[in-house]
Amino acid sequence: MSYISMNLVTMFYLIASVCFIQALKGLSSPATARTGNAFGMSGMAIATVTTVALIFKLQAQAATTGGLGFGLVLLGVVVGGGIGAFAAKKVEMTKMPELVAAMHSLIGLAAVCIAVAVVAEPWVFQITTAGVALPFGNRLELFIGTFVGAVTFSGSVIAFGKLSGKYKFRLFQGAPVSFPGQHMLNLGIAIALVALGLVFCFAPGIEPAWTPFIIMALLAFILGVLIIIPIGGADMPVVVSMLNSYSGWAAAGIGFSLNNSMLIIAGSLVGSSGAILSYIMCKAMNRSFFNVILGGFGGDPAAAAAGGAQEQRPVKSGSAEDAAFIMSNAETVIIVPGYGLAVARAQHSLKELVEKLTHKGVIVKYAIHPVAGRMPGHMNVLLAEAEVPYDQVFEMEDINGEFGQTDVVLVLGANDVVNPAAKDPKSPIAGMPILEAYKAKSIIVNKRSMASGYAGLDNDLFYQANTMMVFGDAKKVIEAMVKAVD
Ligand code: TAP
Repeated sequence: MSYISMNLVTMFYLIASVCFIQALKGLSSPATARTGNAFGMSGMAIATVTTVALIFKLQAQAATTGGLGFGLVLLGVVVGGGIGAFAAKKVEMTKMPELVAAMHSLIGLAAVCIAVAVVAEPWVFQITTAGVALPFGNRLELFIGTFVGAVTFSGSVIAFGKLSGKYKFRLFQGAPVSFPGQHMLNLGIAIALVALGLVFCFAPGIEPAWTPFIIMALLAFILGVLIIIPIGGADMPVVVSMLNSYSGWAAAGIGFSLNNSMLIIAGSLVGSSGAILSYIMCKAMNRSFFNVILGGFGGDPAAAAAGGAQEQRPVKSGSAEDAAFIMSNAETVIIVPGYGLAVARAQHSLKELVEKLTHKGVIVKYAIHPVAGRMPGHMNVLLAEAEVPYDQVFEMEDINGEFGQTDVVLVLGANDVVNPAAKDPKSPIAGMPILEAYKAKSIIVNKRSMASGYAGLDNDLFYQANTMMVFGDAKKVIEAMVKAVD
């Protein structure tokens, strides 16, 4: 029987890597996102099949020494693939960030498991021959890979808990969890990790120095928790993308140890794209990137509580029919979708409304804030699902200059991303760029109540003299608007 040659393995890994690069390129624009996803899926399929074929070959070669448990590998592919397919099919759009966080935790854990296996039996991975000590370079890669993987694992579990609102467990509460000396403790752990790394890397003898390695892994798990618990509220999206980046670097680190070029390329792509996305989000929320990396930011809870205190102020409210009348008579309308639109699953009705308004000669545009919703690109995905034409959809920086000359802004289930409090230096969201809906001639806001958004703040936009609130579930309200626009 002939097995896959190492040349073929390298070639297939190269093809898979090119697919991953094409996937990222495709995902940079909504118009090419589907093609990008197709490239990503093809790359992952090629990589998985090639790896399984390689394991099959290695097992056959090692058959005399008891094999590598090929059956277990296949079982892992079937069980893991099955759970992944089931979860992806079942997950609601609004629960996507939790799913992503949960998956990052698994990548981190996988990196730790692989590193432990390599440290224990490097000859199985053809890094050394039996009876020879692990070289310094491999020890360093494995140490760093395990450290990053363990931080990613425990940090992602905390992020998952916070995002899914399992608030009964104190570490999972949405508000930042902090205690005196937290930064010093983090620093102490970081110094201890460096010391343990030196002991592990320079340990004499053939046997690996398990004690510093295990203590490091335990400390890294603790550090992951400590870095994420003080981050709360509106800063969570940056954390998810940052953990995404960490998981990529963990995979790349392990790729170096295993001499696996595809793992290095794919890990680096994930690591760097996650870091770039974190940076873009930090800019969109006016947060310092280094504060995020070091943990321990996320706003002053007392300030958030003070800013979130609901005032009893009068608001003007109207019906969906009133809103439809105003929009039908406008020349220009900008729609600002937010998290509530996703909750109500109102994107298809919204598209119908826009078609009707456009038919009446109204110029309608969509304005997208980079952190609207609960995950990067949430609103773009939602609108793409309803097949909204891409030329109607505008990013914040491209449309912000137009609000002042716009007749009507329709805010649908959005709150923080249009909150003028961001312009107030004392506000907890001070400096966060917003969609400047407050500048429009008339503003129509649809939400169910006067409740605050994700950041827990009251919103002055709702009390402006030219704002009309239309209370109700976004889907029902938009359907009523569609009926009213004749
Ligand atoms: P939010 O500020 O969270 O406001 C959403 C509003 O939608 C709420 O005030 C809610 O008010 C309303 N709503 C909920 N269900 C609704 C329904 N069925 N029909 C109509 N309205 C409904 O949303 P946003 O403006 O999109 O801002 C996003 C926030 O989430 C930011 O603070 C951002 O930092 C944070 N965040 C973003 C991400 C990413 S990456 N996008 C991830 C995590 C967190 P009612 O309850 O009164 O209806």
